[in-house]
Amino acid sequence: MDALGRVMLDAKFIATATCLALAGILYLLLRTDPEKAVDFSTPAPEQCSPGWRGKELDRPSIKVPGSTAIQCYAPATGHYLGLLNPSTPDRIDRTIAKAAAAQQQWKKSTFAQRRRVLKTLLKFILDNQEEIIRAACLDSGKTRTDALFGEVLVTVEKLKWTLDHGENALLPDRRPTNLLMFYKRNEVRYEPLGVVAACVSWNYPFHNLLGPIISAIFAGNAIVVKNSEQTAWSSTYFVTIVRDALTACSFDPNIVHAFSCWPQTADYFTSHPGISHLTFIGSRPVAHEVAKSASKSLTHLCVELGGKDAAIVLDEPGGRVMSRGEMERIASIIMRGVFQSGGQNCVGIERVVAMPETYDTLIKMLEPRIKALRLGDDLDPENAGEGSAIDVGALISPASFDRLERLIAEATAQGARLLVGGHRYSHQRYPLGHYFTPTLLVDVSPRMRIAQEELFAPVCVMMRANDLDDIVNITNGTAYGLGCSVFGPTSSSLSNANLQHVTNSVKSGMVAVNDFAAYYVVQLPFGGVAGSGYGRFAGREGLRNLCNAKSICSDKWPSLIKTAIPAKLDYPMRSNAWHVARGVVEVGYGESLSRRVEGLRKLVGF
Ligand SMILES: *[C@@H]1O[C@H](CO)[C@@H](O)[C@H](O)[C@H]1NC(C)=O
Ligand SMILES: *[C@@H]1O[C@H](CO)[C@@H](O)[C@H](O)[C@H]1NC(C)=O
Repeated sequence: MDALGRVMLDAKFIATATCLALAGILYLLLRTDPEKAVDFSTPAPEQCSPGWRGKELDRPSIKVPGSTAIQCYAPATGHYLGLLNPSTPDRIDRTIAKAAAAQQQWKKSTFAQRRRVLKTLLKFILDNQEEIIRAACLDSGKTRTDALFGEVLVTVEKLKWTLDHGENALLPDRRPTNLLMFYKRNEVRYEPLGVVAACVSWNYPFHNLLGPIISAIFAGNAIVVKNSEQTAWSSTYFVTIVRDALTACSFDPNIVHAFSCWPQTADYFTSHPGISHLTFIGSRPVAHEVAKSASKSLTHLCVELGGKDAAIVLDEPGGRVMSRGEMERIASIIMRGVFQSGGQNCVGIERVVAMPETYDTLIKMLEPRIKALRLGDDLDPENAGEGSAIDVGALISPASFDRLERLIAEATAQGARLLVGGHRYSHQRYPLGHYFTPTLLVDVSPRMRIAQEELFAPVCVMMRANDLDDIVNITNGTAYGLGCSVFGPTSSSLSNANLQHVTNSVKSGMVAVNDFAAYYVVQLPFGGVAGSGYGRFAGREGLRNLCNAKSICSDKWPSLIKTAIPAKLDYPMRSNAWHVARGVVEVGYGESLSRRVEGLRKLVGF
């Protein structure tokens, strides 16, 4: 071939390759992604518009004398949000029936279709964060930053995890076989349960509602959620978002429902034979009622109660305090762990347990910071200016104030020192809001009630420990066992061994090492031990718990080998059947070669 011919061939080749590449890019660009998010709109309630102010209630309370309706109001200001009708047993029956009917189609959906729904939801949440956060703040009294982290971030994280890893967690799982059953293929398939349920608490009105919904529908279930009557108002908006996302993706929205009711009706729901799994997030006394009620239909329960989570702070080996920078870092994390959402957080830091020198250093760091915390309504445009930000919002209701003040008084009478706060707070600008002064109580000892009971309040309780054993003993010394933070140096093998020792020894379902609640933000299974409940949600375990784990044992080579009963063991059995049966066991499970050979001998009848 001459030179010209070669050049022309090269040119042709380049042209063809370019065309193919362009066609490929065009295909990638024009291809319709079957999981692409669908745009839809769910109008936010008018109360979510900036600067909204409704009528002020004379006496903010969810109960109205002479009415069965739930009165919704903003706990930060006492502004009226609306009246809602609580659900009745009849309506609960109808809701569960609708969910069951809709699940018949939904269970056939593919993971790609379910991911599309979750992506649609993810996009909506990111596009409409402001409105969602305003609704959550109005209804719960928390600040916008608390809502951004505690409502939005953790929810989009759960969506992202489920999008990325959900299918993997629910794919059929191959399991090993054994010598006698060498020809078997063993697997576990995760099938939807049907209609599952959740009773969720008010502390994260958006996240606590969406969390169980995301897992339930991804596993192919329908779900009915009973939300707290304290946050019934925003729950109505939030569940509408999910239902609209389903509709936008051409699915029946009836696979997802939420309702509110008074406690006397809740019993009807939790004992309902139409639900096959119930996640309960709430307090211990209520959990006893729920478990009693669920026992009527023997419904599978996942129970997440509160905790008395400790933040443990270790010394450098030899009793030195960690570097100033490190201690400041830890103090900042403790502040967030204690005061996030006004302390109304199931894995909130309820106790700080530290070694003596470290203990004193921490108090010096925490005291001025806690004194400087500003209470108020974060949605009030008055507080938008520089230097007037709100650190801690209102609590959901004043119901716990008497108890908190009593526990603090009792502790000081027993030798604890109250350094900051310790009482309810009547806010000048929001006299109807439910505020409690951020509190620092130190020198608390394990036998004080405040060291034992969950507070769910902006109260930092400090306990001094003498050594590692004391730290573990104090940490273990409550009825609870939910989460735990362990802070300590990592500079030497001894300090790392100390961190490991504490991590391994604490009675706890979850541990964050040198951090607070990090396990939650990476979707590890969530749950506690002892008085903190049982069962796990989130992560692989959480998804699988919402499924029927169907165990399937089939043949690897069905045309070659299947189980066949040896003639000697067949009914009616031969006289040497016993001998042969022993051979089977010895061949299969003999701990030594000689026993196996002996088994084989029995089996073939020598
Ligand atoms: C552990 O704590 C309990 C009370 O919480 C106390 O009675 C016991 O003496 C402590 N044990 C040790 C070894 O400190
Ligand atoms: C703490 O609790 C764990 C888990 O229940 C237990 O293994 C450990 O022995 C306990 N340690 C102390 C000092 O109570």
